Amino acid sequence: MSKKLFIETLGCAMNSRDSEHMIAALKEKEGYETTDDFKSADLILINTCSVREKPVAKLFSELGVFNKKKKEGAKIGVCGCTASHLGEEIIKRAPYVSFVLGARNVSKIAEVLHRDKAVEVDINYDESEFAFDDFRTSPYKAYINISIGCDKQCTFCIVPKTRGDEISIPDDLIINEARKAVERGAKEMFLLGQNVNNYGRRFSSSEHEKVNFTELLRRLSKIEGLERIRFTSPHPFHMDDEFIEEFANNPKICKSMHMPLQSGSTKVLREMKRGYSKEWFLNRVEKLRAMCPQVSISTDIIVAFPGESDADFEDTIDVMKQVRFDQIFSFKYSPRPETEAEHFTNAVEPETASERLSYLQALNTAILDEKNAQQLDKIYTVYFEDLHTNGYVAGRTDNNFVVKVKGSEELLGEFKDVKITAIGRTILTGEIVA
Ligand code: 5AD
Ligand code: SF4
Repeated sequence: MSKKLFIETLGCAMNSRDSEHMIAALKEKEGYETTDDFKSADLILINTCSVREKPVAKLFSELGVFNKKKKEGAKIGVCGCTASHLGEEIIKRAPYVSFVLGARNVSKIAEVLHRDKAVEVDINYDESEFAFDDFRTSPYKAYINISIGCDKQCTFCIVPKTRGDEISIPDDLIINEARKAVERGAKEMFLLGQNVNNYGRRFSSSEHEKVNFTELLRRLSKIEGLERIRFTSPHPFHMDDEFIEEFANNPKICKSMHMPLQSGSTKVLREMKRGYSKEWFLNRVEKLRAMCPQVSISTDIIVAFPGESDADFEDTIDVMKQVRFDQIFSFKYSPRPETEAEHFTNAVEPETASERLSYLQALNTAILDEKNAQQLDKIYTVYFEDLHTNGYVAGRTDNNFVVKVKGSEELLGEFKDVKITAIGRTILTGEIVA
């Protein structure tokens, strides 16, 4: 009988990809099969996120539950970003944990498994030449890493400490992986990196041909059978004209752009060391919309960064009103260890932070309701990828709206034109017209 693996994945798309990698490696080298029931698992993995404080606190309570209820002899491993930043401390606080594997070291999973109390959290370890094992949670869509780590020094962000310096994965490895995924039936590719449009700045070998992100997109879009390319996250600072023009003009690139604003105040952006101003951000949105009117734009916003005044917050609101984002991920600032902002002394009062977040989220809901109302009767090409409840199948439009229609398996992996018949906040309903 095969051994059972239970894996819980928190955090971002990079973590999802790392989990896919670990599942594949454990299957191939150790004969593990995944299970949804941790009580019957022989190995329990938590792939953690440390970008905000709350999930870290949750980790230890969760580990306690796993330990109490796990099968006799089952191992527990902590992986990912919190593993990188807490390292050995995890085993000190939770001695029943068998091993700790950092976000930059996931390719070592099959090996640490056999070393009790192993702690592998080296952020200089280079996985960029490593041909990541192939495991697809979905056969219709392939997640592909294009770079690891992050070279930015945003003062709020722990990621450079958990994923290390940025290294680009050689383009031939990426193209090979994309080709393999297409042969297995994936028509959509999701390119991943902390900072995708900084691709090509550094490869592990200095001889590698300098290929930038725009050129990588051109090369990938030549793959026959590959119909759609998505990516996350680009950085507003690196959105030069060449990149925006390729984005707008290349028909295989999906027309949804994540533009993490963080703050609309140039003063706060400077304190965050984001490298752009309110004006630059608005200018990039304007250029993007001018070249590509159907583009949907999503963003991340942090409220109550240290020193954020009412006027600074108003600047964020002003950008929201001008841009009218299609999706916003908004957070209260959370001080993180080993970051510059952790030492800033001008914290915003917690009540003010909560008020600002509620205000921003209410405004966002109002904007989305207005925008959504205009979706009725529109026709979109949808790529179907998930079975939904109650006899529906769901997929995404090119510009990243989720749409469901009545149907079954045979729609999966297919493109269909769909007319929108009902509006919901997170999902649209439609019927196939062609
Ligand atoms: N506090 C709050 N939000 C943060 N993010 C990153 N670091 C922090 C922090 N210290 C948010 C940013 C980023 C997203 C992934 O998480 O908005 O874009
Ligand atoms: Fe979380 Fe950032 Fe790590 Fe992703 S890279 S798992 S968002 S801390």
